[in-house]
Amino acid sequence: MKKVLIIGSGGREHALGWKLRQSYDVKALHAPGNGGTEEGSARNISIDGTKKENFHYLFNFVEKEDIDMVVVCPEAPLADGIVDFFNLRGYDKIFGPTAGASLLESDKFFSFDLMNDLGIPQADSIKCYSTDQAERAIEKLSTKKGVVIKARGLTAGKGVTVCDSREQALAEIRKHAEKYGPEVLISKRLFGEEFSVFGISDGNEVLPFEMAFQDHKKLCDGDKGPNTGGMGAYGPAQIVSANTIKKINYDIMIPVVRRMKDRGYSYKGFLYAGMMMTEDGPKVIEFNVRFGDPECQPAMMLLKSDLYHIMSSSLEEKLDQAKMEFNSGASCCVVLAAKGYPEAYEKEKGLEISGLEEATEMKNIKVFHAGTRKENGKILTNGGRVLGVTSYSENGIEEAIGLSYEAAQKINILGGFHYRNDIGRKALRKWN
Ligand code: AMP
Ligand code: GLY
Repeated sequence: MKKVLIIGSGGREHALGWKLRQSYDVKALHAPGNGGTEEGSARNISIDGTKKENFHYLFNFVEKEDIDMVVVCPEAPLADGIVDFFNLRGYDKIFGPTAGASLLESDKFFSFDLMNDLGIPQADSIKCYSTDQAERAIEKLSTKKGVVIKARGLTAGKGVTVCDSREQALAEIRKHAEKYGPEVLISKRLFGEEFSVFGISDGNEVLPFEMAFQDHKKLCDGDKGPNTGGMGAYGPAQIVSANTIKKINYDIMIPVVRRMKDRGYSYKGFLYAGMMMTEDGPKVIEFNVRFGDPECQPAMMLLKSDLYHIMSSSLEEKLDQAKMEFNSGASCCVVLAAKGYPEAYEKEKGLEISGLEEATEMKNIKVFHAGTRKENGKILTNGGRVLGVTSYSENGIEEAIGLSYEAAQKINILGGFHYRNDIGRKALRKWN
């Protein structure tokens, strides 16, 4: 039995654990996991592996339990050097980039410079170290359609403000600095449809997921309301072909990991390019050094190949021998969130969730848990994004969307969930 320890507690971690357990002989352990991750042979452990102060306990656990693979999912422990911590102690079966390689996500100045060096298409931007400098950059890069302010460091997706005008940006910049610090990247505002591209790297090669996914970052239908961690996702996104993805892999993803290698930063893990299809072709909006959440949920529903095998090939630096295959058809994930999300949802924690069994019994539905916990055999809400109701249909996206919403309607809490009603609709528009 191979033991895999998954660090994190969201829907992405549940989906990865579920897929890894389909591999012959894998037992998944989650640190800390959530109310849904303890299924089959999977177990939660009480150590919160995402916190730096716990790396030491986690390492002791891994040694004692003889864990075969550690998979680090969220960006914070990666940026905090969890992989370096394990590597320094002689453990190299840990899947994720080192802290140096994680700068690609944790430092927007670093990724901007790297893309500039490599000639990777991105928005024109200026690195600003003070608010005065940022104001001058806003004057310079604003167009009639606005400008974008991006905090330099990690902000759990909240540090980007897309402004509709120069005036709005100038009014926002000081508030932004108070919240996220004065160091910002001011970027020209780009327009176009966004899509997510994923690959697995072994530090030299990148094996791409040869289909794109689309997230839905805004809280409400029609891409309105505040930004969230993601209200739903689907794949494959028809906006790009498998060939375009191959090209993105050769022109963008592989050069990035090879440049990292030249700099001495080991990159074994997921690489995620957040892209925008602009009038001038695809441009990178940002890199992430992990899988996307909720894109991971449909990706795992569609993946046919043995994920444990592919991830082992990455750790052994034999990714050139690995293959990734997908089932035909489509998958759609609808996120059920607490009504106060993304602002105030603390008071909505601890509500009992009903209808989970009915939804789970449906064919081609998997309900991935995120902000849930188990107490006395009941599943209770425990966070903003609570569940990701994920479907698979061999007949395509329209049926997949229908299945997800049919299942979502069976699940409830007191006061109801908030969810978007238009997840995947962009795909229908493209196909009709
Ligand atoms: P990021 O965290 O850099 O992915 O930015 C979060 C979101 O802000 C992206 O998904 C885009 O919707 C938006 N965004 C970021 N940069 C730009 C840009 N240069 N032009 C337009 N929108 C952007
Ligand atoms: N799907 C957006 C993210 O994972 O950052």
